[in-house]
Amino acid sequence: MHIRSGTKDDAEQIAELHTRSWLTAYAEIMPPSYLNESLLKERNVMWSTRLATVASEPDHTRCLLVAVDGDALLGFAYLAVGADERILLDNLHVQPERKQSGIGRQLVYHSFGWAAERHPGKTVYLEVLRDNTAAITFYRRLDGRSTKEFMERFPTGFELPVVEYAWDPDAVRILAGNLSTTDRNWDTVVARIGSAAEKAVRPGP
Ligand SMILES: CC(C)(COP(=O)(O)OP(=O)(O)OC[C@H]1O[C@@H](n2cnc3c(N)ncnc32)[C@H](O)[C@@H]1OP(=O)(O)O)[C@@H](O)C(=O)NCCC(=O)NCCS
Repeated sequence: MHIRSGTKDDAEQIAELHTRSWLTAYAEIMPPSYLNESLLKERNVMWSTRLATVASEPDHTRCLLVAVDGDALLGFAYLAVGADERILLDNLHVQPERKQSGIGRQLVYHSFGWAAERHPGKTVYLEVLRDNTAAITFYRRLDGRSTKEFMERFPTGFELPVVEYAWDPDAVRILAGNLSTTDRNWDTVVARIGSAAEKAVRPGP
């Protein structure tokens, strides 16, 4: 397994993994009427839109990382600079059958490496469904601090409690410190993803 920057050629596999991950991890959390085939369609549109444009200038405002084994996608992480200038870890997913084998941890180290290098001094945060106890255990293992709780409304109208977890700049730097210098080639990460299409709908954690 190794981690590299994502490209628009990864869009389809990412949409598939994103969908499978939701169907598995949220089966007991979200209404079955929401977890149906239209999710894959929605994810395909979301990822092809997000990755469609190749930036002419390196885009340092977002970062897509993929964990791969040959041609197989094992996991991915996507980050973007938020409106409040903190860094949002917007998506983090590992193939259901490869969970708890260290892939998520490596994706977080690389994500924080990008944040620490491109946006030093910034907090990284994410939003996780309160009932996603497995992910919350994972974030706590990585020293995330719960900073906020709120209700999120989903497109079909249901609401679920969401918790924000955050890492202050020192914590980001410390976790990023787990990377070797050869893992720190962020130019290739940011140069390959576009910037114009970012306003696509965010479907939630
Ligand atoms: C959450 C997720 C990204 C974690 O990735 P992962 O590859 O499974 O986690 P890792 O193997 O790197 O685990 C890192 C640490 O967290 C712990 N951990 C991870 N999942 C755990 C679980 N379900 N229960 C208990 N501990 C867990 C591991 O034991 C490990 O601890 P250690 O290294 O101190 O022994 C992954 O499980 C996933 O994709 N889940 C479904 C989608 C999801 O919920 N994404 C987050 C949305 S906010």
